[in-house]
Amino acid sequence: MCETAKVGIIGLGKYLPKKILTNKDLEKIVDTTDEWIVTRTGIRQRRIAREDEATSDMAAEAAKKALADAKLKPEDIDLIIVATITPDMFFPATACLVQEKIGARQIPAFDISVACSGFIYGLAIAKQFISSGVYKRALVIAAEKLSSITDWSDRSTCVLFGDGAGAAVLGPVERGGILSIYLGADGKQGDLIKLPAGGSRIPATAKSIEGKLHFIKMNGSELFKHAVRIMADAALEATRPLGLKAEDVHLVIPHQANVRILNAAAKRIGLSEDKIYLNLEKYGNMSAASSAVALVEAVEEGRIRKGDKILLDAFGGGLTWGAIVIEW
Ligand code: ACO
Repeated sequence: MCETAKVGIIGLGKYLPKKILTNKDLEKIVDTTDEWIVTRTGIRQRRIAREDEATSDMAAEAAKKALADAKLKPEDIDLIIVATITPDMFFPATACLVQEKIGARQIPAFDISVACSGFIYGLAIAKQFISSGVYKRALVIAAEKLSSITDWSDRSTCVLFGDGAGAAVLGPVERGGILSIYLGADGKQGDLIKLPAGGSRIPATAKSIEGKLHFIKMNGSELFKHAVRIMADAALEATRPLGLKAEDVHLVIPHQANVRILNAAAKRIGLSEDKIYLNLEKYGNMSAASSAVALVEAVEEGRIRKGDKILLDAFGGGLTWGAIVIEW
């Protein structure tokens, strides 16, 4: 084993399903308006996966693009982590399905379930394996088909979510890379957003289906308050050890839940709103995939340049949270 000091992102890819569901389309499904959704959340449309398209399909497409971007072949990868709360099935892990779909070797492959913080947790885990010298390159994929666990008759949740996937290849870099990691969780607040049934607590029965317990249940206003505090605190905890101030961060790539949460969190830490990368108006909240796809698009749009210090910042069901500073 050789110690590798610096680990960074060396390739990125995304996959978004073709079907676009606009706020106007939702007006025909539930009692809502485009105006309500835009002013309360910032979301204008979201992508919806095909019925025959599962999370592993989207994850594999994003992974192939990330590998191409890194100029690597599937056999160059030593580890696959998939962050998702909408796996194809409980087991085998979606990561194992992705391993097969992309033609990787018989390398370790596993899922992590930390909701919207999943991409950051995945990067943090992969970074440990690489910097300790156990593995050289890892694929971290965040992929979600939230439309499959959305109650399309519940206007308080169905307007928020979308489907998609983002992937990153991690490997050794000569300079910069991941500079700091801050992760956390608070199980006491687990009831604020959850999928009640389908697990060992409430296995699937006719009653659980009738009670719509296989769909996301959320206390939106309570979550909102926690989210603002958590995102602000996580940003400070990740930047403080590096002696970074708000003005030293070139761009923040946050979990794309709600523009009002992000603006409130930015105000709390004295960060100007133009430093927050937003794409939620196009995709809504894709849970773990949100920050992954946002990172991919920020790079595609030239918002991140070599040497920039960027901050990934997310919170999600669990509750869980995480922030990472990367020098690009
Ligand atoms: N269209 C029209 N009216 C609606 C809709 C809708 N789609 N949804 C709710 N309303 C109504 C409510 O019924 C309520 O009406 P009432 O006052 O007559 O009872 C009114 O709008 C206000 O409802 P609130 O829930 O108080 O609205 P709020 O301003 O809090 O916005 C929202 C709701 C957007 C959900 C907000 O609370 C939020 O974004 N919370 C955080 C959610 C979040 O981040 N979730 C994901 C985190 S974890 C993860 O991503 C997996």
